[in-house]
Amino acid sequence: MSRAVVEACRTPFDLSLEAIASDKSISHRCAMFSLLSDRSSTVRNFLRGEDTMASLSIARQLGAEIEDRGDVIRITPPAELREPDDILDCGNAGTGMRLFCGLLAGVEGSFVLTGDRYLRSRPMKRVTGPLQSIGAKIDGREEGNLAPLHIRGGQLKAFRYESPVDSAQVKSAMILAALRADAPSYYRESFLSRDHTERMLRGMGVSITTDAEGWITVTPPEGPLEPLDITVPADPSSAFFFAVAAAIVPGAKVRIPGVTLNPTRIEAFKVLEAMGATVEYRLHEDVYEPIGEIRIAYNGRLAAVEVSRRIAWLIDELPALAVAMATAEGISRVRNAAELRVKESDRIASVVAALQACGIETDEYPDGYAIHGGTLKRATVDSHGDHRIAMSFAIAGLLCGMEIEDIDCVATSFPNFFEILSRITEVQI
Ligand code: S3P
Repeated sequence: MSRAVVEACRTPFDLSLEAIASDKSISHRCAMFSLLSDRSSTVRNFLRGEDTMASLSIARQLGAEIEDRGDVIRITPPAELREPDDILDCGNAGTGMRLFCGLLAGVEGSFVLTGDRYLRSRPMKRVTGPLQSIGAKIDGREEGNLAPLHIRGGQLKAFRYESPVDSAQVKSAMILAALRADAPSYYRESFLSRDHTERMLRGMGVSITTDAEGWITVTPPEGPLEPLDITVPADPSSAFFFAVAAAIVPGAKVRIPGVTLNPTRIEAFKVLEAMGATVEYRLHEDVYEPIGEIRIAYNGRLAAVEVSRRIAWLIDELPALAVAMATAEGISRVRNAAELRVKESDRIASVVAALQACGIETDEYPDGYAIHGGTLKRATVDSHGDHRIAMSFAIAGLLCGMEIEDIDCVATSFPNFFEILSRITEVQI
């Protein structure tokens, strides 16, 4: 198991981060949604992380022809999705597994979805339950809650479903199932989760509308969809590690071009701004999504903040935000974030344990934590196999030095993270 030793950063930095990892959510969807067309999709800047490459391999196993020309990937779907002769391995990716459940539930054939030991312990009933209720045949341990999952695809019924969780993965799985149902379907969540699926499928010609009460109507298309022609923007969740770096290292600045400015994805930058960092947004284009540049600069010691609303819009950034909170003046609190417990690790437990190791006082709640801002101390932090924990505490290391155990997971979403970090400070792997 590999480890990283990050030394404290001695000089302020001013970085333009052209090489931030491409968006993971959008890349997964590119691999999957290209299967819904009858023509080749063109995808530029596909994320070459382990999670999204696993989705691309699954697309290939389902019969897609993948022409990888480096910067551009052309994905040519088969006339009919093929029943694969082997298991479909989603690696560490909850998005891969949950969205493929919805996509495959309506396809004739037998499919087995599995993943690494972390993914095999994450709850899948949130998608398999509603899919089973519309006629999908899915089985797995704990009555379809734990992978490996076996899907026997077939005809699905149209539905009206109100989700008990605000989850883009559940929403997307159900929208994908709705595309193959026998009539229009309706879906509602209590708070809008990230909406890449709606935006991208609309761009491919699907009729997806949302009414004033938040009900999404999905009408099954009559034929194949338009192919995708897309440049995947930079991932704001990956960019956020360096946003926190700029906000906590005196005199630092970063510029992140080509990033999605989708409001369901940049809430954590707004929180950093509320804590006192200087944050600027510049909109450049709108193709499927608003895309532009974010600039972040150090602006003195951060102030504590309470985060209990719009949780779905910053759920992935909470570990990095915890590092910013640890340096802030006062007690910060995160509430209504019980979803953190079922991410790549139990992120409430992982964040609290790591901060305590770094000498920061914390209180743990069932749905969040309180962080008493202070001075971070060098420590050895266990990532628990969770990429975002590993990267968050590598960033904390800029202030005090840090040793992070089990960093292989970083390759799932941000393969060049340590290379970028080593432009700011000394890093030993
Ligand atoms: C994702 C949705 C979020 C997020 C995950 C990616 C997606 O999960 O945490 O990293 O691509 O749809 P939930 O929708 O389960 O909250």
